[in-house]
Amino acid sequence: MNIGILTGGGDCPGLNAAIRGAVRKGVNRYDDTFVGFRDGWRGPLEGLSDPLTLDTIKGILPRGGTILCSSRTNPFKRGDESVQKVLENLGKLDALIAIGGEDTLGVASRLYTEHGVNVIGLPKTIDNDLGATDSTFGFDTALQIATDAIDRLHSTAESHHRDMVVEVMGRHAGWIALHSGIAGGADVILIPEKEFEIEDVVASIKRRHDRGSYFSIVVAAEGALPVGGMPEQGDALDEFGHARLGGIGQWLEGELSKRTGHETRTTVLGHVQRGGTPTAYDRVLATRLGLAAIDAVHEGNFGTMAALRGTRIEMVALADATAVLRTVPLEDYAQVEALLG
Ligand code: F6P
Repeated sequence: MNIGILTGGGDCPGLNAAIRGAVRKGVNRYDDTFVGFRDGWRGPLEGLSDPLTLDTIKGILPRGGTILCSSRTNPFKRGDESVQKVLENLGKLDALIAIGGEDTLGVASRLYTEHGVNVIGLPKTIDNDLGATDSTFGFDTALQIATDAIDRLHSTAESHHRDMVVEVMGRHAGWIALHSGIAGGADVILIPEKEFEIEDVVASIKRRHDRGSYFSIVVAAEGALPVGGMPEQGDALDEFGHARLGGIGQWLEGELSKRTGHETRTTVLGHVQRGGTPTAYDRVLATRLGLAAIDAVHEGNFGTMAALRGTRIEMVALADATAVLRTVPLEDYAQVEALLG
Protein backbone atom coordinates (compact mmCIF):
# COMPACT_ATOMS: atom_id res chain seq x y z
CA MET A 1 0.00 0.00 0.00
CA ASN A 2 1.04 3.61 -0.48
CA ILE A 3 0.67 5.41 2.86
CA GLY A 4 1.07 9.08 3.79
CA ILE A 5 2.13 10.30 7.22
CA LEU A 6 1.91 13.81 8.68
CA THR A 7 2.53 15.40 12.06
CA GLY A 8 0.45 18.47 12.94
CA GLY A 9 0.00 20.99 15.76
CA GLY A 10 2.57 21.61 18.48
CA ASP A 11 5.47 19.20 18.18
CA CYS A 12 6.36 16.86 21.03
CA PRO A 13 8.96 14.26 21.92
CA GLY A 14 8.08 10.85 20.49
CA LEU A 15 6.83 11.95 17.05
CA ASN A 16 9.86 10.46 15.32
CA ALA A 17 9.49 7.20 17.24
CA ALA A 18 5.88 6.91 16.01
CA ILE A 19 6.90 7.62 12.39
CA ARG A 20 9.70 5.06 12.67
CA GLY A 21 7.42 2.39 14.17
CA ALA A 22 4.88 2.79 11.36
CA VAL A 23 7.39 2.91 8.50
CA ARG A 24 9.46 -0.03 9.78
CA LYS A 25 6.45 -2.27 10.22
CA GLY A 26 4.87 -1.20 6.94
CA VAL A 27 8.03 -1.82 4.93
CA ASN A 28 9.22 -4.97 6.73
CA ARG A 29 5.91 -6.72 7.18
CA TYR A 30 3.74 -5.52 4.30
CA ASP A 31 6.08 -4.09 1.68
CA ASP A 32 4.31 -0.72 1.97
CA THR A 33 5.67 2.50 0.52
CA PHE A 34 5.44 5.82 2.39
CA VAL A 35 5.41 9.54 1.76
CA GLY A 36 5.91 12.06 4.53
CA PHE A 37 3.89 15.29 4.21
CA ARG A 38 5.71 18.34 5.42
CA ASP A 39 4.39 20.83 8.01
CA GLY A 40 1.17 19.14 9.13
CA TRP A 41 -1.89 19.80 6.94
CA ARG A 42 0.13 22.34 4.93
CA GLY A 43 1.80 19.31 3.26
CA PRO A 44 -1.33 17.87 1.64
CA LEU A 45 -2.66 21.38 1.04
CA GLU A 46 0.37 22.54 -0.94
CA GLY A 47 1.55 19.14 -2.18
CA LEU A 48 4.70 19.17 -0.06
CA SER A 49 5.91 15.62 0.45
CA ASP A 50 9.01 13.44 0.32
CA PRO A 51 9.44 9.68 0.23
CA LEU A 52 9.83 8.09 3.66
CA THR A 53 12.07 5.03 3.52
CA LEU A 54 14.06 2.88 5.91
CA ASP A 55 17.02 5.10 5.03
CA THR A 56 15.29 8.41 5.77
CA ILE A 57 14.15 7.21 9.20
CA LYS A 58 17.56 5.96 10.29
CA GLY A 59 18.62 7.21 13.73
CA ILE A 60 15.42 9.16 14.48
CA LEU A 61 14.14 7.15 17.48
CA PRO A 62 15.76 9.32 20.20
CA ARG A 63 15.40 12.61 18.33
CA GLY A 64 13.01 15.28 19.60
CA GLY A 65 10.73 17.26 17.28
CA THR A 66 9.53 15.75 14.02
CA ILE A 67 11.52 15.03 10.87
CA LEU A 68 8.35 15.95 8.93
CA CYS A 69 8.05 19.34 10.64
CA SER A 70 4.71 20.71 11.81
CA SER A 71 2.29 23.63 11.57
CA ARG A 72 -1.13 24.64 12.83
CA THR A 73 -2.61 24.83 9.29
CA ASN A 74 -6.36 24.15 9.21
CA PRO A 75 -7.61 23.43 5.65
CA PHE A 76 -11.26 23.72 6.76
CA LYS A 77 -10.64 27.24 8.03
CA ARG A 78 -9.23 28.19 4.62
CA GLY A 79 -12.35 27.20 2.70
CA ASP A 80 -13.64 24.61 0.20
CA GLU A 81 -10.92 25.16 -2.37
CA SER A 82 -8.27 24.27 0.22
CA VAL A 83 -10.14 21.16 1.29
CA GLN A 84 -10.38 20.12 -2.39
CA LYS A 85 -6.60 20.54 -2.80
CA VAL A 86 -6.01 18.35 0.26
CA LEU A 87 -8.36 15.71 -1.17
CA GLU A 88 -6.60 15.79 -4.55
CA ASN A 89 -3.19 15.26 -2.97
CA LEU A 90 -4.44 12.53 -0.66
CA GLY A 91 -6.28 10.84 -3.54
CA LYS A 92 -3.00 9.37 -4.79
CA LEU A 93 -2.63 7.38 -1.54
CA ASP A 94 -4.27 4.28 -0.05
CA ALA A 95 -4.25 5.68 3.48
CA LEU A 96 -3.08 8.57 5.64
CA ILE A 97 -1.71 8.38 9.18
CA ALA A 98 -2.27 11.73 10.90
CA ILE A 99 -0.33 12.22 14.13
CA GLY A 100 -1.66 15.03 16.26
CA GLY A 101 -3.77 16.40 19.06
CA GLU A 102 -7.38 17.58 19.08
CA ASP A 103 -6.94 20.03 16.18
CA THR A 104 -5.00 17.84 13.75
CA LEU A 105 -7.17 14.83 14.53
CA GLY A 106 -10.31 16.99 14.33
CA VAL A 107 -9.39 17.73 10.69
CA ALA A 108 -8.64 14.01 10.13
CA SER A 109 -12.00 13.07 11.57
CA ARG A 110 -13.86 15.51 9.28
CA LEU A 111 -11.93 14.30 6.23
CA TYR A 112 -13.05 10.77 7.07
CA THR A 113 -16.71 11.47 7.86
CA GLU A 114 -17.36 14.22 5.29
CA HIS A 115 -15.09 13.07 2.44
CA GLY A 116 -14.41 9.37 3.01
CA VAL A 117 -10.62 9.75 3.35
CA ASN A 118 -8.90 6.56 4.60
CA VAL A 119 -7.38 8.04 7.71
CA ILE A 120 -5.93 6.65 10.95
CA GLY A 121 -5.01 8.94 13.86
CA LEU A 122 -2.25 8.72 16.45
CA PRO A 123 -2.55 10.71 19.71
CA LYS A 124 0.29 13.05 20.60
CA THR A 125 0.46 16.15 22.77
CA ILE A 126 2.37 17.15 25.84
CA ASP A 127 -0.95 18.42 27.24
CA ASN A 128 -2.32 14.85 27.59
CA ASP A 129 -5.81 16.18 26.94
CA LEU A 130 -7.10 13.99 24.14
CA GLY A 131 -10.28 12.01 24.72
CA ALA A 132 -10.65 8.22 24.29
CA THR A 133 -7.03 7.47 25.25
CA ASP A 134 -5.57 7.13 28.74
CA SER A 135 -2.46 8.98 27.68
CA THR A 136 -0.79 10.74 24.76
CA PHE A 137 2.90 10.46 23.97
CA GLY A 138 4.96 13.57 24.69
CA PHE A 139 3.33 14.05 28.07
CA ASP A 140 5.76 11.88 30.02
CA THR A 141 8.77 13.76 28.66
CA ALA A 142 7.24 17.17 29.36
CA LEU A 143 6.34 16.02 32.85
CA GLN A 144 9.91 14.91 33.53
CA ILE A 145 11.31 18.21 32.26
CA ALA A 146 8.90 20.21 34.44
CA THR A 147 9.68 18.03 37.47
CA ASP A 148 13.44 18.45 36.99
CA ALA A 149 12.92 22.21 36.80
CA ILE A 150 10.87 22.25 40.01
CA ASP A 151 13.57 20.21 41.79
CA ARG A 152 16.17 22.75 40.74
CA LEU A 153 14.02 25.71 41.74
CA HIS A 154 13.49 24.18 45.18
CA SER A 155 17.11 24.45 46.19
CA THR A 156 17.56 28.03 45.04
CA ALA A 157 14.18 29.05 46.54
CA GLU A 158 15.23 27.64 49.89
CA SER A 159 18.68 29.25 49.81
CA HIS A 160 17.22 32.70 49.16
CA HIS A 161 14.02 32.43 51.23
CA ARG A 162 12.03 33.21 48.09
CA ASP A 163 8.72 32.12 46.68
CA MET A 164 9.04 30.70 43.18
CA VAL A 165 6.30 30.56 40.57
CA VAL A 166 6.75 27.99 37.79
CA GLU A 167 4.53 28.44 34.74
CA VAL A 168 4.08 25.24 32.76
CA MET A 169 2.14 24.51 29.55
CA GLY A 170 -1.49 23.43 29.52
CA ARG A 171 -4.12 25.64 27.93
CA HIS A 172 -7.28 23.88 28.95
CA ALA A 173 -5.95 20.90 30.89
CA GLY A 174 -3.75 20.98 33.96
CA TRP A 175 -2.13 17.54 33.66
CA ILE A 176 1.45 18.83 33.45
CA ALA A 177 0.89 21.25 36.35
CA LEU A 178 -0.85 18.67 38.52
CA HIS A 179 1.59 15.82 37.96
CA SER A 180 4.78 17.89 38.03
CA GLY A 181 3.42 19.63 41.11
CA ILE A 182 2.93 16.29 42.83
CA ALA A 183 6.26 14.86 41.64
CA GLY A 184 8.16 18.04 42.50
CA GLY A 185 6.49 18.60 45.87
CA ALA A 186 4.91 21.95 45.00
CA ASP A 187 3.11 23.91 47.72
CA VAL A 188 0.46 25.38 45.41
CA ILE A 189 -0.83 23.91 42.12
CA LEU A 190 -3.07 25.99 39.86
CA ILE A 191 -4.88 24.40 36.92
CA PRO A 192 -7.23 25.72 34.21
CA GLU A 193 -10.06 23.46 35.37
CA LYS A 194 -10.48 25.36 38.64
CA GLU A 195 -10.35 29.13 39.04
CA PHE A 196 -8.41 30.16 42.10
CA GLU A 197 -8.75 32.94 44.67
CA ILE A 198 -5.47 34.81 44.92
CA GLU A 199 -6.11 35.30 48.64
CA ASP A 200 -6.18 31.49 49.12
CA VAL A 201 -2.76 31.22 47.49
CA VAL A 202 -1.46 34.02 49.71
CA ALA A 203 -2.92 32.38 52.84
CA SER A 204 -1.32 29.06 51.98
CA ILE A 205 2.12 30.64 51.49
CA LYS A 206 1.79 32.64 54.72
CA ARG A 207 0.83 29.49 56.66
CA ARG A 208 4.00 27.78 55.47
CA HIS A 209 6.01 30.84 56.41
CA ASP A 210 4.49 30.88 59.91
CA ARG A 211 5.50 27.24 60.30
CA GLY A 212 9.12 28.15 59.52
CA SER A 213 9.26 27.26 55.79
CA TYR A 214 10.56 30.48 54.31
CA PHE A 215 10.05 29.51 50.68
CA SER A 216 7.19 28.19 48.58
CA ILE A 217 6.85 26.65 45.14
CA VAL A 218 3.78 27.59 43.12
CA VAL A 219 3.17 25.60 39.91
CA ALA A 220 0.70 27.25 37.54
CA ALA A 221 -0.59 25.95 34.21
CA GLU A 222 -0.50 28.67 31.56
CA GLY A 223 -4.31 28.44 31.32
CA ALA A 224 -4.92 28.81 35.08
CA LEU A 225 -7.07 31.82 35.93
CA PRO A 226 -7.90 33.74 39.08
CA VAL A 227 -11.57 34.25 39.87
CA GLY A 228 -12.59 37.32 37.88
CA GLY A 229 -9.93 36.71 35.20
CA MET A 230 -6.60 38.32 34.48
CA PRO A 231 -6.36 41.87 33.14
CA GLU A 232 -4.10 41.22 30.13
CA GLN A 233 -4.32 38.16 27.82
CA GLY A 234 -3.11 37.93 24.20
CA ASP A 235 -5.90 38.20 21.62
CA ALA A 236 -4.14 36.78 18.52
CA LEU A 237 -5.76 33.48 17.49
CA ASP A 238 -4.28 30.58 15.50
CA GLU A 239 -6.20 28.83 12.66
CA PHE A 240 -7.94 26.61 15.19
CA GLY A 241 -9.11 29.61 17.20
CA HIS A 242 -6.69 29.23 20.13
CA ALA A 243 -5.26 32.31 21.80
CA ARG A 244 -1.57 32.35 22.61
CA LEU A 245 -1.51 32.11 26.38
CA GLY A 246 1.12 33.08 28.89
CA GLY A 247 1.40 35.70 31.53
CA ILE A 248 -0.14 33.98 34.53
CA GLY A 249 3.34 33.43 36.06
CA GLN A 250 4.27 37.06 35.74
CA TRP A 251 0.89 38.15 37.09
CA LEU A 252 1.26 35.84 40.10
CA GLU A 253 4.75 37.16 40.81
CA GLY A 254 3.39 40.70 41.03
CA GLU A 255 0.35 39.81 43.12
CA LEU A 256 2.19 37.48 45.50
CA SER A 257 5.11 39.77 46.19
CA LYS A 258 2.68 42.63 46.86
CA ARG A 259 0.34 40.62 49.07
CA THR A 260 2.87 38.45 51.00
CA GLY A 261 5.72 40.93 51.17
CA HIS A 262 8.05 38.05 50.17
CA GLU A 263 10.61 38.14 47.43
CA THR A 264 9.00 36.24 44.53
CA ARG A 265 10.40 35.08 41.19
CA THR A 266 8.86 33.46 38.12
CA THR A 267 10.21 30.87 35.71
CA VAL A 268 8.26 30.25 32.50
CA LEU A 269 9.26 26.82 31.19
CA GLY A 270 7.59 27.33 27.80
CA HIS A 271 8.83 25.33 24.83
CA VAL A 272 11.66 23.74 26.80
CA GLN A 273 8.92 21.28 27.80
CA ARG A 274 8.36 20.26 24.17
CA GLY A 275 11.97 19.95 23.08
CA GLY A 276 14.67 17.33 23.21
CA THR A 277 14.86 13.60 23.43
CA PRO A 278 11.78 11.59 24.50
CA THR A 279 11.78 9.52 27.67
CA ALA A 280 11.90 5.74 27.30
CA TYR A 281 8.18 5.64 28.18
CA ASP A 282 7.28 8.02 25.34
CA ARG A 283 9.48 6.15 22.86
CA VAL A 284 7.76 2.89 23.71
CA LEU A 285 4.24 4.33 23.65
CA ALA A 286 4.80 6.18 20.37
CA THR A 287 6.35 3.07 18.77
CA ARG A 288 3.46 0.85 19.87
CA LEU A 289 0.95 3.35 18.48
CA GLY A 290 2.85 3.53 15.17
CA LEU A 291 2.83 -0.27 14.88
CA ALA A 292 -0.91 -0.43 15.60
CA ALA A 293 -1.63 2.19 12.93
CA ILE A 294 -0.14 -0.02 10.23
CA ASP A 295 -2.26 -3.00 11.26
CA ALA A 296 -5.35 -0.77 11.22
CA VAL A 297 -4.48 0.41 7.68
CA HIS A 298 -4.22 -3.20 6.46
CA GLU A 299 -7.45 -4.18 8.20
CA GLY A 300 -9.18 -1.20 6.55
CA ASN A 301 -10.15 0.05 10.00
CA PHE A 302 -10.33 3.73 8.95
CA GLY A 303 -11.73 6.69 10.87
CA THR A 304 -10.05 5.34 13.99
CA MET A 305 -7.24 6.31 16.34
CA ALA A 306 -4.79 4.01 18.09
CA ALA A 307 -5.28 4.61 21.84
CA LEU A 308 -3.75 3.49 25.10
CA ARG A 309 -6.42 1.77 27.22
CA GLY A 310 -4.92 0.54 30.47
CA THR A 311 -1.79 -1.20 29.22
CA ARG A 312 -3.18 -2.24 25.82
CA ILE A 313 -3.29 -0.41 22.50
CA GLU A 314 -6.81 -0.39 21.06
CA MET A 315 -8.44 1.30 18.09
CA VAL A 316 -11.15 3.85 18.99
CA ALA A 317 -13.33 6.10 16.83
CA LEU A 318 -11.54 9.30 15.82
CA ALA A 319 -14.78 11.17 16.44
CA ASP A 320 -14.75 10.01 20.09
CA ALA A 321 -11.14 11.10 20.55
CA THR A 322 -11.85 14.63 19.39
CA ALA A 323 -15.36 15.11 20.80
CA VAL A 324 -14.37 16.33 24.26
CA LEU A 325 -11.06 17.34 25.81
CA ARG A 326 -9.79 15.10 28.62
CA THR A 327 -9.34 17.58 31.45
CA VAL A 328 -8.31 16.97 35.06
CA PRO A 329 -11.33 15.72 37.05
CA LEU A 330 -12.00 18.06 39.95
CA GLU A 331 -12.05 15.12 42.37
CA ASP A 332 -8.45 14.25 41.35
CA TYR A 333 -7.43 17.82 42.08
CA ALA A 334 -9.30 17.80 45.40
CA GLN A 335 -7.41 14.66 46.47
CA VAL A 336 -4.08 16.33 45.82
CA GLU A 337 -5.05 19.49 47.74
CA ALA A 338 -4.43 17.59 50.97
CA LEU A 339 -0.71 17.53 50.08
CA LEU A 340 -0.35 21.23 49.46
CA GLY A 341 0.79 24.09 51.66
O1 F6P B 1 0.96 21.54 21.80
C1 F6P B 1 0.35 21.97 22.95
C2 F6P B 1 0.98 23.25 23.42
O2 F6P B 1 2.33 23.04 23.78
C3 F6P B 1 0.22 23.90 24.56
O3 F6P B 1 0.57 23.39 25.81
C4 F6P B 1 0.58 25.34 24.38
O4 F6P B 1 -0.42 26.17 24.89
C5 F6P B 1 0.68 25.49 22.91
O5 F6P B 1 0.97 24.22 22.39
C6 F6P B 1 1.73 26.47 22.45
O6 F6P B 1 1.65 26.57 21.06
P1 F6P B 1 2.73 27.29 20.16
O7 F6P B 1 3.95 26.42 20.15
O8 F6P B 1 2.08 27.34 18.83
O9 F6P B 1 3.01 28.62 20.77
